[in-house]
Amino acid sequence: MNHGPNEAGRLVVDDVDLVFTPARRDPVVALENLDLEVEPGEFVCVVGASGSGKSTLLRLLDGMLTPTKGTITSGSAPVAGPSRDRAMVFQSDNLLPWSTVIDNVAYGLTLGGMRRSRARQAALRQLELVGLADSAGQYPRELSGGMRQRVNIARALAVDPQVLLLDEPFAALDAQTREIMSAELLRIWSTDRKTVVFITHQIDEAVYLADRVVVLSARPGTVREIVPVDFERPRELSLKRTDPFGRIVDHIWSLIEVEVRGSLGLS
Ligand SMILES: Nc1ncnc2c1ncn2[C@@H]1O[C@H](COP(=O)(O)OP(=O)(O)OP(=O)(O)O)[C@@H](O)[C@H]1O
Ligand SMILES: [Mg+2]
Repeated sequence: MNHGPNEAGRLVVDDVDLVFTPARRDPVVALENLDLEVEPGEFVCVVGASGSGKSTLLRLLDGMLTPTKGTITSGSAPVAGPSRDRAMVFQSDNLLPWSTVIDNVAYGLTLGGMRRSRARQAALRQLELVGLADSAGQYPRELSGGMRQRVNIARALAVDPQVLLLDEPFAALDAQTREIMSAELLRIWSTDRKTVVFITHQIDEAVYLADRVVVLSARPGTVREIVPVDFERPRELSLKRTDPFGRIVDHIWSLIEVEVRGSLGLS
């Protein structure tokens, strides 16, 4: 069967449970009866208290984990293990310290069988997109945290995935760098609309970025509410200082406050 270019960008999570069964300990029901549909090219953010299963959901979407119950599909194909259709970005960059920036970005392409010179050309284009073409020959240790995370994103985009999965990618950055990075991410996304699933603890970051914000309930995680965010794009960072924006943030916070308190042992 011929898969269209965007088809793999449609993600469907259908009635999924994920139960961890650690040796000699009680099973952990991380996710229960979870349903979610993400459209091709959509930007979805996921928020929820610590332990609500956000990272677990992302690992399921990537194929690193298999559901205990239910199904996950990407386009018309079930997700059965990691695929080049999907790329993951984690909180801490996992760049190769002994490789230059450009070789880090080219790495996935050469793994996929591309000739090194062509892979480097493609890598350079991605570095231009994240504003780091001038750093191509540097080593990761020579970059700031924000720059390293941009290299990390360039590396994920280099393999031209249909789906970009990001697990708190800006959590290690200072507040100002983080704001600028989220605006940059939207700019990059707008040039080449991948399906994006983005996990964050920061509700204002989620609302600024997303077409829809998925709010998970506390463990076992399930979809508590899906909040549409209809602000027009492109979005200025100043949007975050407006009343309509604040109202959506307040609404989402009201949904999870009790659970965040619970996860801290407070009432
Ligand atoms: N490999 C594992 N074995 C056993 N339990 C696990 C495993 N991975 C995660 N869990 C449990 O599953 C639940 C959900 O974990 P997960 O990492 O998905 O939460 P999260 O929402 O990403 O939290 P945080 O916001 O702190 O990153 C937690 O109770 C966690 O302890
Ligand atoms: Mg997590």
